[in-house]
Amino acid sequence: MPKVWIEKLLDEPELYLLRIDDDKIKYFEATWDIPEGITYNAYLMKTDSAVVLFDAWKKDYTSEFLEALSSIVDPKEITHIVVHHTEPDHSGALPKVLEANGHSAKIIGTAFAKRLLEAFYGIKENVHAIKDGEELKVGNKTLKFITVPWLHWPDAMITYLLEDNIILSCDVWGGYSIPDAIDDSDEGVVENYLPYVNKYIVTVIGHYHKYIVENVEKIKKLGIVDDVKMILPGHGLVWRKNPRKIFEHYVNVAAGVPKKGKVLVVYDSMYGFVEESVGIAVDELKKLGFEPVVYRFTDKEAPAVSDILGEVPDSEALIIGASTYEASIHPRMRYLVHEILDKANYAKPVLILGKFGWAGVAGREIEALLRESKFEHVATVEAKGRTTAEDEVKIREGVRKLVEKLKG
Ligand code: FEO
Repeated sequence: MPKVWIEKLLDEPELYLLRIDDDKIKYFEATWDIPEGITYNAYLMKTDSAVVLFDAWKKDYTSEFLEALSSIVDPKEITHIVVHHTEPDHSGALPKVLEANGHSAKIIGTAFAKRLLEAFYGIKENVHAIKDGEELKVGNKTLKFITVPWLHWPDAMITYLLEDNIILSCDVWGGYSIPDAIDDSDEGVVENYLPYVNKYIVTVIGHYHKYIVENVEKIKKLGIVDDVKMILPGHGLVWRKNPRKIFEHYVNVAAGVPKKGKVLVVYDSMYGFVEESVGIAVDELKKLGFEPVVYRFTDKEAPAVSDILGEVPDSEALIIGASTYEASIHPRMRYLVHEILDKANYAKPVLILGKFGWAGVAGREIEALLRESKFEHVATVEAKGRTTAEDEVKIREGVRKLVEKLKG
């Protein structure tokens, strides 16, 4: 039975976190390996004359959600339901919530969300489509709705509680994993959590990462970043000790701000030939003072692509090692390279190392893919079979060329 947290965050207005720790999920969106799990966070606010529910949980946890909700309020008393984003990890329980509510609550979302609520659940009555910047009085409190398209779908919006400087943000400023705490008060919890935020940003929002920067700029211009007291996302930690930290972290990941010295090395090696070349490159990197982070696909290992994607934004450079396989790129590397270019497309230098038996194709194909991306191809060292002394010279030269790109 997944753990359920019902935590009061504030007395006035009464504001509650309702969180469930999904430790059963294996593949988020049926794609991304997340053995670390994920949390679904909904929030409930009681004002002097209104009861507002912000989002819900995944359909699988509908009965747990209704039970948690009912421990705070009779669902019939809910006057407003704010749907920040209709992806079913946040909206799946809504139909049953509405049933328990007697369909009396006003449902609030963007025009896009309105269409998706009908498409997903047949919900079309009592739905109000907000305009960007619209404000709504709920008793003695004011909700301000701000659209943040493509974070993570075109339907997305956030709510700003005007009198209390609180942002409810759904996917935005969320992350994977099941933190041991509800908020950012413990530095150790935060440090353990942030790599899962990177992984989440790249896999979930990565394809649209330029919109993170755009939307954060938009929110900054509204002047609410400096005043914000709490950020309440739909996944992971609540930010109330240092909410600016997660703002800045998101911007840095979206912009691909590198950590000095980090070079991501990814490769496949069917019989050890690619590994020989990569080993030389790693040795050269270390001699030059860099810290390679290495992932490899072999006959004994197959790391999660989602983990590798999460390493790209803060790497200074990449080394991709690939075998030629059936006149193309090794299938695992082909998938990985495709996902890196789609989800983590940053202006970073890349060195390609390749190996082949009778014809070298992988290097050429990866080069062609890189030409269509923001990455900068620095060199390819591709060779037949074992790594000769001559190959070693070229590999070390290739690494030095890669590192040169990082200067200035
Ligand atoms: Fe957490 Fe885009 O849903």
